[in-house]
Amino acid sequence: MQSNSHKDLTDKVALVTGAASGIGCAIASKLAHSGAEVCLVDIQESLLQQASLLMNGQVSTVVADLSSPESIATMQEVIARKFGRVDILVNNAGLQHVEPLESFSLEKWDEMMHVMLRAAFLNMQSVIPAMIKNGWGRIINIASIHSLVASPFKSAYVTAKHGLIGLTKTAALEVALKGVTVNAISPSYVRTPLVEKQIEKLSEIHQIPHDQVIKEIMLLPMPQKELIEPEEIAEMVIFLCSDPARHINGHNLVVDGGWTIT
Ligand SMILES: NC(=O)c1ccc[n+]([C@@H]2O[C@H](COP(=O)([O-])OP(=O)(O)OC[C@H]3O[C@@H](n4cnc5c(N)ncnc54)[C@H](O)[C@@H]3O)[C@@H](O)[C@H]2O)c1
Repeated sequence: MQSNSHKDLTDKVALVTGAASGIGCAIASKLAHSGAEVCLVDIQESLLQQASLLMNGQVSTVVADLSSPESIATMQEVIARKFGRVDILVNNAGLQHVEPLESFSLEKWDEMMHVMLRAAFLNMQSVIPAMIKNGWGRIINIASIHSLVASPFKSAYVTAKHGLIGLTKTAALEVALKGVTVNAISPSYVRTPLVEKQIEKLSEIHQIPHDQVIKEIMLLPMPQKELIEPEEIAEMVIFLCSDPARHINGHNLVVDGGWTIT
């Protein structure tokens, strides 16, 4: 068994999707600080460059549209040419759309399924063979509290995140004997642009101001009554990559401020 001590990810190659913003950016930054060679993937080129600058240009970037299998294949070729393998895969890219079921467009439904579910599947399919060959790998899927509970107007998001847990568990079983772990992290509300957009939309739907949306809708089910910071989720990723976490497999690590206690 190859091993790495806690927080020492030197010589590991990490791929983080949706790394230009929010949680993905925080994860990429912490992985880089832990010594990994990090490749940031996102559809937003200029934000991706900004994220890379934040990390002192010590990371690689690839622009890709994860809703497109062709774009994913091109991204995988670029990464294979540059690094030869991926040791840590973080499937983080995601998007939210808040809309009643009856008016939810098929186009948006498909985009969300493709980015949050199909892309995760395709990326796992691509990195697992080298992980198995090397006897070490960490796959971390950023799910959501909505992998466990539902909220109105989020049909595609809730469905994709529930599905991502099924994919996580299945993959974990398949690679259990190979030194590879596959886990999910499920946060409730984290302070990122994705949440800021939801606050805007919920404020429109419910006809209430932003601070009321945060207090009376978002934080209502969270006993701890605070938005989570992206760096807290990034720390969970570092933990799951560490040696002491090597027997945590197929797990959904819930970081929800107590939302699902009752
Ligand atoms: N913020 C939260 O409260 C929260 C809570 C639970 C789970 N999550 C999950 O965490 C992940 C990151 O969310 P965030 O809050 O940091 O959001 P964010 O909007 O800040 O970042 C998401 C990133 O994904 C990228 N992305 C979206 N579509 C893409 C595509 N087609 N191809 C490539 N990249 C694409 C975006 O460009 C963006 O940089 C998502 O999977 C989200 O569902 C977020």
